[in-house]
Amino acid sequence: MNDPREILAQMTLEEKAALCDGRDFWHLKGMDKYGIPEIMVCDGPHGLRKKDYEKTGSSLTASVGSICFPTAATTAASWDPDMLTEMGKALGKKCLKEKVGVLLGPGINMKRSPLCGRNFEYFSEDPVLAGELAAGFINGVQSMGVGTSLKHFCVNSQETRRMTVSEVVDERALREIYLTAFEIAVKKAKPWTVMNSYNRINEVHGSENKHTQIEILRNEWGFDGVVVSDWGAVNNRPLGLKNGNDLEMPSSAGSGTAKIVAAVQSGELDESVVDERALNVLKLIKKAADGAVDNYEYNDLDDQQLAREIAGKCMVLLKNEGILPLAKDKKIAIIGDMAKNPRYQGAGSSQINPTRIDNAFDELAALGFNLEYAPGYERSIKKAKKNPPLIKAAAELAAQCDIAVVFAGLTDDFESEGYDRQHMEMPASHNELIKEVAKANPNTVVVLAGGSPVEMPWIDSVKAILNSYLGGQAGGGAVADILSGNVNPSGKLPETYPISYGDTPAKNYYPGNMASVEHRESIYIGYRYYDKVKKTVAYPFGFGLSYTTFEYSDLAISASDISEDDTLTVTFKVKNTGDRAGAEIAQLYVADKESTIFRPEKELKAFKKVWLEAGEEKEVSLTLSKRAFAFYNTAVNDWTVESGAFDILVGASSADIKLTASVYVSAAPVKIPDYRQSAPVYYDGDMQTIPDEQFVAVLGRELPPTEYDPDSPVSITDCFESAMRTKNGRKMFNLLSKLVPAGFAQAIALQTPFRDFISMSGGVFSESIAEGLCKLLNGQKGGVRQILKGIPKAIAGVGPLLKQI
Ligand code: BGC
Repeated sequence: MNDPREILAQMTLEEKAALCDGRDFWHLKGMDKYGIPEIMVCDGPHGLRKKDYEKTGSSLTASVGSICFPTAATTAASWDPDMLTEMGKALGKKCLKEKVGVLLGPGINMKRSPLCGRNFEYFSEDPVLAGELAAGFINGVQSMGVGTSLKHFCVNSQETRRMTVSEVVDERALREIYLTAFEIAVKKAKPWTVMNSYNRINEVHGSENKHTQIEILRNEWGFDGVVVSDWGAVNNRPLGLKNGNDLEMPSSAGSGTAKIVAAVQSGELDESVVDERALNVLKLIKKAADGAVDNYEYNDLDDQQLAREIAGKCMVLLKNEGILPLAKDKKIAIIGDMAKNPRYQGAGSSQINPTRIDNAFDELAALGFNLEYAPGYERSIKKAKKNPPLIKAAAELAAQCDIAVVFAGLTDDFESEGYDRQHMEMPASHNELIKEVAKANPNTVVVLAGGSPVEMPWIDSVKAILNSYLGGQAGGGAVADILSGNVNPSGKLPETYPISYGDTPAKNYYPGNMASVEHRESIYIGYRYYDKVKKTVAYPFGFGLSYTTFEYSDLAISASDISEDDTLTVTFKVKNTGDRAGAEIAQLYVADKESTIFRPEKELKAFKKVWLEAGEEKEVSLTLSKRAFAFYNTAVNDWTVESGAFDILVGASSADIKLTASVYVSAAPVKIPDYRQSAPVYYDGDMQTIPDEQFVAVLGRELPPTEYDPDSPVSITDCFESAMRTKNGRKMFNLLSKLVPAGFAQAIALQTPFRDFISMSGGVFSESIAEGLCKLLNGQKGGVRQILKGIPKAIAGVGPLLKQI
């Protein structure tokens, strides 16, 4: 492909605008006339979800077979960016083979609440950990000449009303919590694209947000790639283009293009903006075209072993009272359907069609264990209630064996894109099963599956818990490797496991109301909250056991007194004091001893996974710079260090600090917001119930409405749920709730704005039908007629549409 600037110079306004709109669901537009090839973008990111055009059905059900690695919640527990790079390279190869130019991931949204339905697709509650891991992954994929899409930018921490809700978040929390992971990944790995989120950020749509897309992403962080809308995240196309969004996906079937051209012609939009955006798209296409390789050879199964090793590096041993690894001479009851039919990924757009699925039962049998099996429960959510006969049979089997290993956790319906979990419990049948099995046999081990924390009412009655998370297609083998002791577990939790949902910081604010969700807890998510209020948790952030033991010693810092512009080198030693090789994840936290602004007790600033032979000792060296001591200062719109003493804490988890040093950092005096009078709750209060005026003080503006104006007419930016404010809207909502099965489909049907029905259907659902629908919902005359008029054309379009989704 020729130089993008040369091509751009020859293009008409219409052509440039057209380039900023996809060709279909999965392709960017090619233009033969200019030698611009058509590139393909596909979901993943723990595998590749490429539509199989040979098969009928949408890509959700008909995608090409792909290696399925563990999902991000799992790989995050590795704390190993290099491992993510290896995984990224493998996926890059798969993309080359399938002629995919951009892999749509990684997802790095912050885990604000354990209930977010998409937590399994995200890394962590900590931005430094998430950012470093994302950078590792992006570097891996992009080293193969394939692009990535860092998503969802930003503050997309819930599925409930994700397409319409406004995330009301103060600037400091936005910067320190919700943007830092993006910043690290953008600066360290330069993703080719960044994907907008659907939600509004402080009332402004992600795809129209000048503050996040232009002021921060491009101007501050120097991002020079393409900002692509999440599929259907475009609201006002010309405004979005102006405010930083380059590419509308999927195709708007020409309507976005027409709006851009009209806006330029009316003087509302400057043509130079279109030039800039089209150039970004051209550069992306060129990079992908240059990276493409003809007839690239790749066999997914060649990476089966890599997938198994990766899963083995991630699973977290939460508890072990001397029972693991399993002894070979014992009779073991394997209990739970998931032992034979593993849960290995979540649902929604990241769903991979795996090339093979290993299960723990067969893998343990292959290692020579003497096993018996009982299913223990039925899988489907409808049967999630207790099943006495299955539980009884499992308990009887457990009583006859030396050890019982129960495979339990979140079943498929609990974790999906599109909707959040309603509670933090496991299916009742699983809890009851574990309780009864542990009663029948005190030597009970639980292997948990799931992408997000669960309550564990049986925690004290079992001898060991292995959190296998969602291990991908080779996860069953990894579980067997760890249970047998062939692999020494080395994962640590990338998120806190609270005791119960009631303990979580956002429980009173999440998922908010119809129009908004308020981040009243501000910067206090995850361990930042539990530490601050000294709440006991089930398992702290950064926790994980090993079959060996480690000792930390010899902490040294390069200076005890530095200026804010100096770097500080922190060194210490870690020794494997046990008798088998293993890996330890050493974590470095920084604590501001005294500050004017409220701050967490400590924050993760660096970490290192160290592989050690039995008896081996290694020195770890980590470097801290200004940012490690700074907070985001809204008084000066910059990162500020307040002079004073800081503790340097080296630990095996956020709750297990092994070594401490102190450094004095001097900084230039600047104005620092002081909320001690206006919002004292953030210093030492109950963050679960922040009074209005204190949140307003930190937010710096009045609270936006939590509900839509009941008298405002329904428009195409509404969805069936928000249209409930009218009489017909309520009727329609109730009808659809009954007709469409609960879950992903229902969430899409009820919470997708009507404007998206138009754009995502490539115009099959026409603007006229949408207008008719609004009329109907508003009780105006002529709506039904208008809808019916458009139906024949819509029906004719459905077939071709389904072929491309
Ligand atoms: C998801 C994205 C995904 C896109 C394309 C959206 O609904 O939020 O993560 O990449 O669809 O499938």
